[in-house]
Amino acid sequence: MTNPVEHLPPVVPFRELGTHNVEHPMRVVTREVATLGEWDAERAGFVGSIFDSLSSDWHLKHSEAERTASLVDALQRGDLPDGCLIELGCGTGAGTAVIAPVRPVNAAIDLSPGMLSHADPSCAPLVRADASNLPLPDSCAHVVVMLNMLLFPREVDRILAPDGALVWVNTAGESTPIHLTVEEVVDSLPGAWTAVASRAGTGTWCVARRG
Ligand SMILES: C[S@@+](CC[C@H](N)C(=O)[O-])C[C@H]1O[C@@H](n2cnc3c(N)ncnc32)[C@H](O)[C@@H]1O
Repeated sequence: MTNPVEHLPPVVPFRELGTHNVEHPMRVVTREVATLGEWDAERAGFVGSIFDSLSSDWHLKHSEAERTASLVDALQRGDLPDGCLIELGCGTGAGTAVIAPVRPVNAAIDLSPGMLSHADPSCAPLVRADASNLPLPDSCAHVVVMLNMLLFPREVDRILAPDGALVWVNTAGESTPIHLTVEEVVDSLPGAWTAVASRAGTGTWCVARRG
């Protein structure tokens, strides 16, 4: 099944960084997790340790305005519902710091203690958890935000309220190692979804809803 995606024209300047090696190990993991659900304790340990090792200089590289412009655009044009907002794979909080001045972030969740140790706890409650098995009730989130993060389709579907929205951002567009096209995102989610999408700065974004 192919779910419909509306591509909105960009309203702020964008710059393509190019494409990425589709066989990059993190790309392979991203595809396998989204389409096959291939995730276990060994893989969680491997991914967590990679990001622990990258955490010390992550924030400087990933919080520039040109990178986060795609998240800003999604928040402005994504027509997001009010209510509980959960960020998955928050890392060092580059996205959390953009969202927090606009609306509360009810929880910013990540697997890697190293990444979380660099995040600003004044922006959101920081929670260490695995997004494949979240300590959250069904349908609790009105908005789920994911920047450069692995997609666990069944778990996102479980925690998202019926009229909720998923914000999917790749801040380096097609060259983001953890990258899925918008079409891959909506087609990985269980059931019927629609999405609006666009690009801004160096990034791409989509907001997906059921229906
Ligand atoms: C590419 S980084 C992105 C960090 C941040 N969102 C940003 O854009 O700067 C991916 C993040 O997802 C986290 N992550 C990967 N798998 C996860 C999982 N199963 N549950 C929670 N976090 C996970 C990693 O620890 C890492 O911090």
